[in-house]
Amino acid sequence: MKKILRFFVVASILATTLFGFDTRVPNLNNKQIDKFILGLSFFSKPWVPAPTATTARDGLGPLFSSNSCNHCHQNNTGGYVYNNKGEVSREMVPRLSMPGKVAKNSHLGFIPTPHYGAQLSINGTVGVPFEGRLELKYTKIKITFPDKSVVYLRNPHYSIKHLQYGKLAKNYILSVRRGPPLIGVGYIEDISQKDILKNVDVNDKNHDGISGKANYVYDIKAKKFALGLYDYKDYAPTLRQQVATAMHNDMSLNTTYFTKDNCTKVEKACLNAPKPFDAIDAPDFRIDAIAYYIEKLQIPKSAKNIDKKGQKLFASLECALCHIPTFKNKKGGFLHPYSDFLLHDMGKALGDKRSEYLAKGDEWRTTPLWGMNYRVHKSNTKQVFLHDGRARTVQEAILWHGGEAKKSKEYFMHLDKKDREHLINYVKGL
Ligand code: HEC
Ligand code: HEC
Repeated sequence: MKKILRFFVVASILATTLFGFDTRVPNLNNKQIDKFILGLSFFSKPWVPAPTATTARDGLGPLFSSNSCNHCHQNNTGGYVYNNKGEVSREMVPRLSMPGKVAKNSHLGFIPTPHYGAQLSINGTVGVPFEGRLELKYTKIKITFPDKSVVYLRNPHYSIKHLQYGKLAKNYILSVRRGPPLIGVGYIEDISQKDILKNVDVNDKNHDGISGKANYVYDIKAKKFALGLYDYKDYAPTLRQQVATAMHNDMSLNTTYFTKDNCTKVEKACLNAPKPFDAIDAPDFRIDAIAYYIEKLQIPKSAKNIDKKGQKLFASLECALCHIPTFKNKKGGFLHPYSDFLLHDMGKALGDKRSEYLAKGDEWRTTPLWGMNYRVHKSNTKQVFLHDGRARTVQEAILWHGGEAKKSKEYFMHLDKKDREHLINYVKGL
């Protein structure tokens, strides 16, 4: 009976929320399956503001961006730029900070804005005004290839409107980031840090033009600085801390990592809003269940027929110097993330001027490319690329590469059209 029940619970959750990308790794025992399902349900079901009849899922807000993880990590393939009303979607998260030198021992790694904190919340609970709204306009950038073919990139221009708590500090920095795909994210800690650190080459001693820089960030539970592995700038050291950070920034749920709501001193309605019965909205075992769910998601398979010519080009164009295809995992097997998980200067055009610990404005973590085949061919979603979804195609993503990756982009541009297609086909099949 319990088995049948479990089947129906899984089937109904998956059918409503995670159509397509829902496959857990094989060989889990019943207890593990239960934990996976628990994590999945906390990942996909909406949280509600306090006070309510349920204490298991309350504590949302008072100021928040969205009410469920799955909203921003749509079926684990990443968020959209626009919602179906044509507005900038809630998956586009406006991070806020101030310029200036961050103290070396800062546990935050950046300077938040005085009135609006570290992120603009586009939602508030009843009686608590939202903070503001994000607006986006694109202009076109014309790119002409050496063979005279022409494509247009869309260049984003962001602004903040409808501020509800007075002006933003002068010189504030806005970095807009799209909820990334979560494919493979649960496997990053299976790679030994030694193997990741092998590729650090900040001063480019091997003269390949590629530096690779590690970020060191504050590990709240270990109470020390540790290697950053998650987020667009390697901001979080462990998956569990990343889940807690998401809860704090995006939903304002209190955890043992972050015990206070996201209200600044001027946000009186936020400070005075009703408090949930429990001081901690998401205790550690719930964070653990969500992380477990992410860790036990299978990495979808690459295309059956890989583009062999494209694979060769991926190496010869030096894409693979940053998008490293293979790492050993700690269990003696192999993982294929197509990332070095390190930071690289990607040039001014992609930069956001925002520092996070050692990461500078133009630096980003190499985005892993695992799961591309699933994202592009199987997920039934229109995929966009790069940290704010500005690239509509893989080709556009490549054409935005600058800084350390400029040479690689130029090699790409000098290929003939057929070879460009081989490379793109290969990347889309990963
Ligand atoms: C409002 C949208 C939003 C919500 C809600 C949200 N996320 Fe995210 N998530 C993001 C964005 C944006 C990033 C990238 C953050 C950055 O680089 O600063 C991210 C990053 C992540 C990462 C790191 C991915 C990587 O490649 O390193 C994980 C894991 C994650 N989120 C899990 C969660 C979980 C679990 C929840 C629910 C508790 C959640 N997120 C809720 C938008 C969201
Ligand atoms: C110097 C390191 C470096 C090199 C070389 C490099 N990349 Fe990247 N790549 C990155 C970084 C960093 C990002 C994330 C940039 C961002 O989001 O703003 C990225 C993002 C991407 C993305 C977008 C992925 C997504 O889901 O958003 C694709 C596709 C990609 N690279 C393919 C390539 C290809 C193909 C090549 C070779 C022609 C290449 N890259 C060369 C570092 C590099």
